[in-house]
Amino acid sequence: MKYQKIAVLTGAGISAESGVPVFRSEDGLWEQHRIEDVATYEGFMRDKTMVHNFYNTMRQSLKSKVPNPAHKALTKLQQGLEAKGGKLFLITQNIDDLHEKAGSHDIIHMHGELNNILCESCGARIPFSDNSSVESVCPKCGRKTMRPDIVWFGEMPYRMDEIERCLGECNLFIAVGTSGVVYPAAGFVQICKHLGKPCLEFNLEPSAVHNMFTVSYYGKAGTTLPKFVDYLLAHDDLPSSKEICK
Ligand code: APR
Repeated sequence: MKYQKIAVLTGAGISAESGVPVFRSEDGLWEQHRIEDVATYEGFMRDKTMVHNFYNTMRQSLKSKVPNPAHKALTKLQQGLEAKGGKLFLITQNIDDLHEKAGSHDIIHMHGELNNILCESCGARIPFSDNSSVESVCPKCGRKTMRPDIVWFGEMPYRMDEIERCLGECNLFIAVGTSGVVYPAAGFVQICKHLGKPCLEFNLEPSAVHNMFTVSYYGKAGTTLPKFVDYLLAHDDLPSSKEICK
């Protein structure tokens, strides 16, 4: 198999068909809230209770969400590659657990996870499925300094060293359902392109960095990605966009 080590970056678009709202809606709001209120540390300092509740609501609604064919296709790709001695590096900007629910493993959640909570005092990251508040106590240090384990604007994403190694090691890079406006993730395609790796985009429409990609497959990821994965596992070359998007 030609493409044995594949890095995949997923964004909100992959979960859209599972009913998880994307970030950049036309009105510029995220779930009816201004991004600066619910996705910055300053917003959290202004109103901790509102921010806790915002993520509580999302965490609870996630419980009924199920993976769609795009998540399942990536699980199939991971299993297919591993059966042939290859590897899938699955990097997601998403804070949902739909890749896990689809059966994928070793997922890098670079922007944190709804199903974790973070202690500002001791840095503990605790698996969490309940509701948090300013009264929540850290099970490690005992302080009431818990916050959502979400990487907000201006904060450093998780596991960047590891991600750089994955991008260096892969021989194919694929971005799925991401608008390409939030860095550093939006810059991964540039890194891979400069390293001479083919780069593929799966999105509803051209992203902000679409001109960096070798091939783009436009359409719903739940339709295009399963077709692509079936093709890739059976062939040594990449399918044309006509083949996948027809
Ligand atoms: N299939 C494929 N692509 C889709 C689908 C679909 N069914 N539905 C939507 N999309 C595309 C949209 O066209 C858009 O380009 O997915 C992209 C989603 O973009 P954003 O909402 O900007 O999400 P994302 O790129 O993941 O955002 C990055 O920004 O707010 C921060 O930290 C947050 O991780 C998030 C980051």
